[in-house]
Order: sequence, then C-alpha cells, then structure tokens
Amino acid sequence: MSRTRFRAQQVLANTRWATHGAPTTCNAHPHGTERVAIVHNGIIENFEDLRRELEEAGQVFSTETDSETIAQLVDYHLGQGLAPKDAALKALNRLEGAYAIAMIFAGHEGLMIGACHSAPLAVGYGKDEMFLGSDSLALAPLTNRITYMEDGDCVVITPQKAEFMTFDGTPVQRKEQTTALAAGSIGKDGYRHFMEKELHEHPLVIGQTLQRMVDPASRRVFLPDMPFDLATVPRAVITACGSAFYAGMVGRYWLEAIARLPVDIDVASEMRYRNPPLTEGSLGLLISQSGETADTLAALRSLRQKAIHILSVLNVEHSTMARESDSVLGTVAGPEISVASTKAFTAQLTVLACLTIATARARGMLDALAEEELVAALLDLPSRAAEVFTQGAAIRRLAGVVAEARDVLYLGRGSMFPIAMEGALKLKEISYIHAEAYAAGEMKHGPISLIDRTVPIVASVPYTPLFDKTLSNLQEAKARGGRLLVFTDTKGADRVSAIAEDMVVLPHVHDFVAPILQTIPVQMLAYEVAVLKGTDVDQPRNLAKSVTVE
Ligand code: F6R
Repeated sequence: MSRTRFRAQQVLANTRWATHGAPTTCNAHPHGTERVAIVHNGIIENFEDLRRELEEAGQVFSTETDSETIAQLVDYHLGQGLAPKDAALKALNRLEGAYAIAMIFAGHEGLMIGACHSAPLAVGYGKDEMFLGSDSLALAPLTNRITYMEDGDCVVITPQKAEFMTFDGTPVQRKEQTTALAAGSIGKDGYRHFMEKELHEHPLVIGQTLQRMVDPASRRVFLPDMPFDLATVPRAVITACGSAFYAGMVGRYWLEAIARLPVDIDVASEMRYRNPPLTEGSLGLLISQSGETADTLAALRSLRQKAIHILSVLNVEHSTMARESDSVLGTVAGPEISVASTKAFTAQLTVLACLTIATARARGMLDALAEEELVAALLDLPSRAAEVFTQGAAIRRLAGVVAEARDVLYLGRGSMFPIAMEGALKLKEISYIHAEAYAAGEMKHGPISLIDRTVPIVASVPYTPLFDKTLSNLQEAKARGGRLLVFTDTKGADRVSAIAEDMVVLPHVHDFVAPILQTIPVQMLAYEVAVLKGTDVDQPRNLAKSVTVE
C-alpha cells in the first residue's frame, strides 16, 4: 500500500455526534466549499430557514447536516467579496442555536477563525503554532497553555497570535491560563480500556476528594467559603443528567434524611421547562462531570433567573458551568475519558456526602459526635473501596449470566435505588442489553409480571435498615421464578445466600456510605458484560462524552 504524505498548514478534525442526518461519510465533518471548510459542535436551530434562503441565492448543498449551513453561509459572504473575518462575523450574526466552530479558508494559509455560543471552545498556544479545541482535555497532548473562550466570542488565529472579539467585531481581552493536564495523564496505563482504568481509580478519587473537604484529625468537614448560608437556605433544587442525576438522587436522600432540608429534584432537560415555584434564597445544586452538558447548563441559567444561589458539583474546574456558578465544589476525579462515567460518579457522591454533613451541622441537625461518626465512615471508604476489587472473579461470574440475557431488572431501596438506576444505565449504555431499575418495593405494582427465568434480577442489598424489607421483595421475585444476582455485604451474606442464585459480598460499611461502595461492583458488572459481548466499551455507539446539545 502506498502512503501519501501531506504537508498542511492547517488541519480541521471533529468527531461529530450526529444531530441532523445519519452518521455517514457524506455527513461527517469537515464540511466545506471551495472557499471555506468548517467543523462544528452543537446545533444550528434556524438551519432550515438559512438553507432555503441560501439555496435560493444559488448555494449548492451536498449533505443533510445543519453544520453545512455554516460553511455555505460563510461561502456566500466570501462570494460577495468579503474578507474571511468579515464573512465569518456576518455569518455568525445569523446563526441561532448552540455552536463551537472552527473555520479555515482557501488561499489564506495559517488563518483559522473560531467562534462559540452556548458551547465550549478553547484556544491552545504552541511555539509558532496555535490550536482550537473543545476543551483542555482535547488540547492536552498539544499544549497546556489555554484560553477558554466566552459565550459570543470570535477568535482570529494565525500561527503567532490570537485576536479575540465579539460578533460585532469589538476587540476583547481573554486571559491565557496554564492547565494542570499533561498528555501523560491520559493513557490507559496497561488496562484494556479507559473504563477499566477509571474503575480502578475509585479508591484514589474518593480519597483525593475527601482530602479537599475533610480534616482527618478533627473528623470534621470543611467546605470552601460560599456566598450564602447553608443554615438558612429554605430549600434545595437538584438538577443534572444521566449518572450525575442519580448521584443527585442519593444527595436528596441524604440532605432530607440527615440535614432535614427539603429538596426538589429533576433531570435538567425537564427542570428547565417545569418552571417550579422557588422561594428566594433557595439553593440550586447542579451536578456535572464535564460542566458543559447543555441541558444542565440551560437549567443553571433558568434557575439563575429566579434569584437563587447556584452551587455546582463539577469535575472540570474551568468549565462553562464553573464560570457561571456562585460556588463550585470540585470532585477530584481527574480526566475521565471513557464515555460511561465511573469514578466521577463516586466522587460526586463523596462531595454530596460532605455537603450533607456541612448542611446538617449548619442547620443544627448534627452534633459533633454524630458528625465524627459520619466522617469516620467516609474516611474508611478508600480502603473498603480497594477491597471491592478482590471480588473480580465473582463479578465476572455474574457477568456471564447477564451477558446471555435480553432484559435485566435492577432493584434497590432507599439510597440504593439510585445505585440500581446507575447499574441499569451503565449496562444499557455499554453492553446494549435492555435494563430497567425499580425501587424494590414498587415491583409488585407492575413489573413483577415480567419475571421469569430469562430476566435476571440484579439487586443491591447491603446490610442497612432497609435490608429486611428489600430481602422480602427479593423473596417475592424468587417465588415467581426470578434468578437473583445480589450485591450484599459481610453482614448480609448469610441471609442473602439462602435465596440468591449468586452473590458478591462486599465489606460491610456504615449505611451512610453504603451507596458509594455499592456503586463500584454494579459499574464493574456492566464493564465485564460489555467485555464479554465485545462492544466498543470506551466509545459506545450513538453516545458522546460531553453532550453539548439540548
Ligand atoms: C453515563 C453518563 C452520562 C452522563 C451525563 C451527564 O455513564 O456518562 O449519563 O452522566 O451525560 O454528563 P455530565 O456529568 O458531564 O453533565
């Protein structure tokens, strides 16, 4: 096979999550004409109107995507004799929706123009070369000198410099920052997949996150200063997407039960349109690994209009959500590369546990002794989490059963219900097996009719105050032929073994932190099933790591 070498001044590349048009070669980025080529993240909402108008003006489209409209619009203005910067600015003023764009122009070597609106974009600085990327992680192999662009920024880049401006061409100054990310921190370190590596980082990540918020000597939680008083917030509204939402569900359980704080919760894509009545001074609690999820960002902005405090639990500290929040509690999970979230989830739970303790103390619901007990349970977690990995063989045994199934039911009660949801989501996401999570007590109101030998039941049942109740629900399933695969702990193992077809026994921990520990094996189960099924574990079909479209 002959090899072609290209010597290019500029390169454009984009892994596009299809929004309009099927994921085909024709619809893949970059899009372009003879005069301009572009890549685009986001959605152009008025693309149909623009396309009609441009076709009437003689522009010829060759794809089904909304993104091509950008190239055609810029091309049209270039055709009217405008210079690249003027053509780009003119086009940007017509676009509606969310977008981060990079453009290059025929006959203008070394010139690249970027722009963003409601989608992240960063400029990276090299030596006589410059980069544009959707975040610092994408740019990490190339540079750690970054400028995060702001909403409504356009940047004109040459190999030596970057000039920032608003869409009307007014120059603006943006700061250069040095990121802590290094190319070396983004390898698989001998693991088969990033997901496997990230699963093994659970103990480390929980420990690092605790280090930021807990004083082990006094066994007290110390949160950074926040511009509001946890003692007086009348209510919290939690919103997030996917796994981060399930972390929020555990957070609700803790904040209500331990801090006695009323909590409302919804997925961000619904919260935004529900328009719930909120008391002034309430707390908006947003949770996101990336800090860029469009639904969560839109919910943040709509909550912001209601004069409530915005506190975000985020993994990416320079993200758009970080910039738009009143306060940020950081999860110290490090870069998460696998599309399926793992370590960021337990880090989110760890932060929410600390927030719960601080809120309970501020509201007079927790005396020093009780706080010490909860903090001790948290400090014990990293070593207990490390012990979970000794159960690899048992988890692979369960994976062998689940991998053969077409449908799987996940069950849990109380704070273990969101963990069942997390298990079901992870299984669907990376193994493509249909899974449903139910609150175990709710089964008898419908889903119990699904049960037969072909539908394995995965249950998370550590020895907590809800152990007996959950076990009764499992008995009901077993009586109807259900195959029970149970995650329990050393205290519950004897009684579970009497009814389960197979089980995984974890160390027994305080019930406060049991959902954090129980997360690890359900995620490992999904991973092992995906490996057995031979799917693309780190990049499952149809999904993107950072969902920057609504
Ligand atoms: C599931 C998963 C997604 C994300 C969701 C929110 O494994 O990764 O459900 O949790 O897209 O993403 P962030 O946390 O970045 O807002």
